[in-house]
Order: sequence, then C-alpha cells, then structure tokens
Amino acid sequence: MTRHFLSLLDFSPKELRMLVERAITLKAILRRREPHEYLRGRSLALIFEKSSTRTRVSFEAGITQLGGNSMFLAPAELQLGRGEPLEDTARVVSRMVDAIVIRTHEHAKLEAFAAHSQVPVINALTDRFHPCQLLADIQTYFELRGDIRGHSVAWVGDGNNVCHSWINAARQFDFTLRVATPKGYEPDADIVAAAGQAVKMSHNPQETVAGADLVVTDTWASMGQEAEKETRTQAFSGFRVDTALMGGAHPDALFMHCLPAYRGLEVASDVIDGPQSAVWDEAENRLHAQKALLEFLLG
Ligand code: CP
Ligand code: NVA
Repeated sequence: MTRHFLSLLDFSPKELRMLVERAITLKAILRRREPHEYLRGRSLALIFEKSSTRTRVSFEAGITQLGGNSMFLAPAELQLGRGEPLEDTARVVSRMVDAIVIRTHEHAKLEAFAAHSQVPVINALTDRFHPCQLLADIQTYFELRGDIRGHSVAWVGDGNNVCHSWINAARQFDFTLRVATPKGYEPDADIVAAAGQAVKMSHNPQETVAGADLVVTDTWASMGQEAEKETRTQAFSGFRVDTALMGGAHPDALFMHCLPAYRGLEVASDVIDGPQSAVWDEAENRLHAQKALLEFLLG
C-alpha cells in the first residue's frame, strides 16, 4: 500500500512523534554540514495551483540536500491546464517520479489524485488542511519548550485550513486547543466533532488566550478569498493578536503564525517581531520537518 500524507490523520501519533524527532536530528546534521544524501537520485514533482514561498523553497532545497532532485510544475504549463484529467496526470507522473507534492484548492481533488498515484502524494496545502505546516510548528514547540503533550494552545482568528490542521494536531499530539473565531467563521463542524475533548470552541479571544502556552493565528483572508478581504477585515476586528491579548496568555507563551503575515491586521508588529514570536523558527523548520517526511515516505 502506498502511504500518502494528505492530513495528520494519515499517520499514527507514534509516527508523527518520530518525524518530529527525526526533523530535529536532520537539522543538527545540516548545521554540522555532514553529508546526508539518503535519497540520492530520487525525484520529487511539485504541482502548485496557488502561490508559495516557504513550501516550495523548503521542498526543493530539502530534496536537493537529501541528494535527490525536484521539478516544479505550474498547472498552466502542464496538459492539466488544457483539460487533461487529474486522474490521468496522477497515473502518468507517478510512473516517473518517487513522490508528488500538491498545493490545490479542493481537498477532494488531492484525494482523487492520490487514489490514482503509484507513489506517495503529499498535501502542500488545500482549502481544508495544511499538515506539513503542523509538522514544523510542533517541531518548533518541542525545540523551544519541550513536549507539547498536555499543554494548551489558543487559536485566534479564522477557522481555516491551518486551524483544521491544528485541531488534528491536538488529537494526534495530545494537547488542548482552544479556538476563538468570529461567528460564521468557525472551523468545519465535522473536524471539530471528531476531535472530541481535545478542542474547545469560543467567540471570545480573551477567554481563549487566558493562560495559554502558545497563541497562534493566520491571515483573515486565505488564498482564494481575496474578494472577501474587506468583509473579513470588519468581521475579524477584535481578533487581532496584539500585546494586550498576548498579555493574557502564560508569561512564557510563544506566538506562532504560518506566514505570510499581514501586520496590523491579524497580528500587531510588536507581537510578530517581538520576543515571544517563534515565526522564523517555524518557517525554517518547514525544511527539516519535510526532509524527515520525505525520508519516511521514500526511504
Ligand atoms: N506557510 C506557508 O505554507 O507558506 P507559503 O504559502 O509561502 O508556502
Ligand atoms: N490559510 C492560508 C495559509 C497560507 C500558508 C491560506 O490558505 O492562504
């Protein structure tokens, strides 16, 4: 059976913890400049239907460091862009490369692609989930604060793809996630329900953040929601993570944001650029965590 990584639920808690540990080790190996070409000659295809800085650069640099190679395939340049079925693209590309990384809109499209692929398919973000981001975020928490098990995380903002992956992470890594969104912007009910006691919903950012070990947010308008930006900016006023809101969290609390960030909207500059912010480590850890993922799926 070909293993895919479409959501954090595709791996067991034990496998996920192993990936985080391995990511920390691979980071140390890279820092020591030790050769680690464990995937020599292996090929990675990247099919991205949306913009990306971190995800694209980390996968391309990561596979290169592991001795493999990557090809970035913009849909407009593939026959996919001229109407070749997704399923046929999956059948063909998966006969030529060792893994395929996809960033697209509908999660169902990613699942259809994976169902027709002979090689592992990795979710590089869909409208529903962003699991690679969470590998890096959990690694960052482990590095800066130790095991996240039993700790409390506050999500403030939109109940979006990244929020959904934080909900899955709370289940898989055994921590509590409190989520505060404006009314009408809650995460999908099925994802919340499946998480049971691991997640608590609210519409009150102050209550949600109180005593939290980590405060997380993301853009109020995700890719594809550009037309809603004005409405959303209105709806989310009161959900900005600023120093006053952070002041209600645990004094040692960290701040995370997957980036790109919009200073003055979902986060104040003095928080994202301040001493509690872990955002640059999060971004760097995309590289190490995904190298661990590639090694696991292809090794
Ligand atoms: N956080 C993240 O996935 O960033 P990119 O959109 O730049 O890849
Ligand atoms: N929620 C954001 C994350 C970007 C990495 C989006 O989907 O655009």
